[in-house]
Amino acid sequence: MGLLKSFFTNCANPKGRMGRLMLRFMNFGHAPVTNWGLDLISFKDGWTMLDIGCGGGATLKRLYKKGANVKVYGIDISEESVAKARKVNADLLDKQVFVCQGSAEKLPYEDGKFDLVTAVETVYFWPNLPNCLQEVLRVLKQGGKFAILVEVVEGDSIWTKVVEGMTAYSPEQLKKLLDDAGFVNTEIHCKKPSYAAIFGVKP
Ligand SMILES: C[S@@+](CC[C@H](N)C(=O)[O-])C[C@H]1O[C@@H](n2cnc3c(N)ncnc32)[C@H](O)[C@@H]1O
Repeated sequence: MGLLKSFFTNCANPKGRMGRLMLRFMNFGHAPVTNWGLDLISFKDGWTMLDIGCGGGATLKRLYKKGANVKVYGIDISEESVAKARKVNADLLDKQVFVCQGSAEKLPYEDGKFDLVTAVETVYFWPNLPNCLQEVLRVLKQGGKFAILVEVVEGDSIWTKVVEGMTAYSPEQLKKLLDDAGFVNTEIHCKKPSYAAIFGVKP
């Protein structure tokens, strides 16, 4: 595998020194789309929230600042991401921020736990997305919201060529996947250059 391709594999599952570098870059580089997308949500005090594919944990920190008495959970398939997210949130770790290793395919949380589930720049890598969406529905409370934030929306983008195992979905495809999974009030928001936020609510 070429050096560039091998480096970008760390987007899908950060590992080792290159993975740590990628996590630092993503914490910084994904800030604009994340801040834009989270600003579209009306947060409430006391919410329990989950960020799937939390990477280096910057989104956990942002979610934590969105309300009083909130609890924020993060999960990621990569050991390196979990370590970085724990470090970035060390001050609140295991008190109000909880981070564990695991996959969107089988979430280690009880039914109806979360008011909000977020997925920032990660659904590209989830195997069997419809199954993962059922897991998201299961862990959401009734009326709870799922927010997908993505920057890569074109199937033939350069990113899908350099990042192995990456699938880019259009906002319309993601909305349909949410509709088919059983979410209601699904919405698409877009902002140039290619930011997209796709929301759905558990009925
Ligand atoms: C491009 S990074 C985005 C990280 C973070 N959300 C951000 O915005 O900086 C994708 C993250 O999704 C994680 N990931 C990939 N497949 C996953 C899965 N099946 N379940 C949970 N996390 C996954 C990767 O390990 C990686 O940390």
